[in-house]
Amino acid sequence: MQIEMSITGKTRLLGIIGNPVEHSISPQLHNTLSKELGVDLAYVPFKVEYGNLEKAINGLKAVNVIGFNVTIPYKEEMARLVDELSEEARLIGAVNTVKSADGKLYGYNTDAEGFSRSFKQETGTGFEDKNIAIVGAGGAARAIAVKIALEGARQIHIINRTFSKAYELAKLIGENPGQTIEAVESGNPRINDILAGSDIIVNTTSIGMHPDKDGYPLGNFLDFSGRQIVYDVIYNPAKTKLLMEAEKRGSKIVNGLGMLLFQGMYAYEIWTGLKIPSDLAGEIQSLFINYLKK
Ligand code: ATR
Repeated sequence: MQIEMSITGKTRLLGIIGNPVEHSISPQLHNTLSKELGVDLAYVPFKVEYGNLEKAINGLKAVNVIGFNVTIPYKEEMARLVDELSEEARLIGAVNTVKSADGKLYGYNTDAEGFSRSFKQETGTGFEDKNIAIVGAGGAARAIAVKIALEGARQIHIINRTFSKAYELAKLIGENPGQTIEAVESGNPRINDILAGSDIIVNTTSIGMHPDKDGYPLGNFLDFSGRQIVYDVIYNPAKTKLLMEAEKRGSKIVNGLGMLLFQGMYAYEIWTGLKIPSDLAGEIQSLFINYLKK
């Protein structure tokens, strides 16, 4: 027998609160990072029952955790419970990362940065001067739209089944100089032209996610081209019907695993003040691609 030394009296705690949390891969991600970086932190899941969010965060504060992630269904409520909000979290209206320090809770949203880092790393390009179509207008779309607008997209179309939600999101972002943002309802006859004219198409809806593997979020559009990048925030399955159809026609395709991993790595940087080297980020990505194949 050997004394188990991975957790000692000096170990500090991180975690994720949500409901459900059983499916989350954040514990594996953060504990791998701590092991690789030699940081004495442990990350655990906390399933919080409805109505208990305030009690849970007061408890986490009281036991002196370093911070925690927040997932469905508490990201929006969390934005109202922290003491301070980052600019991006305020714009997005949701908090997925909280740092606890000096008796205060600081709320961040790392989804936007996670999307941006994964997109750049996997495509070698950014959003400046691009025409971008975002499908969906929920939480993920908000984070992505806010980010690409801040990073200089020339034209953004937000396409959604419920027009009012697309319109609200377009209004929220506002237009920077030289930029146009337009909300479009899914049934609009212009949609195929808008999609064909986009440099980047991003699906943020759950259409095509396991077990809906035949789901396709772009209506009858199939006119992809070799100059387009198609990004699906879904990572299960690794290749949705959307990504398969786009790939067949020569588009560059990216799934949502990178966004998930990079938002987590950015959260880890916020908590620890460390910068994760890009070779480690790449290794983590390969590791998790293989892990999720099993
Ligand atoms: P998330 O936080 O993951 O973005 P969400 O906030 O529930 O999730 O948003 C889901 C988005 O996908 C919404 O824009 C939703 O469209 P509505 O605004 O019309 O509800 C869209 N969506 C989900 N399922 C859909 C479906 N079967 N057909 C069309 N749109 C769908």
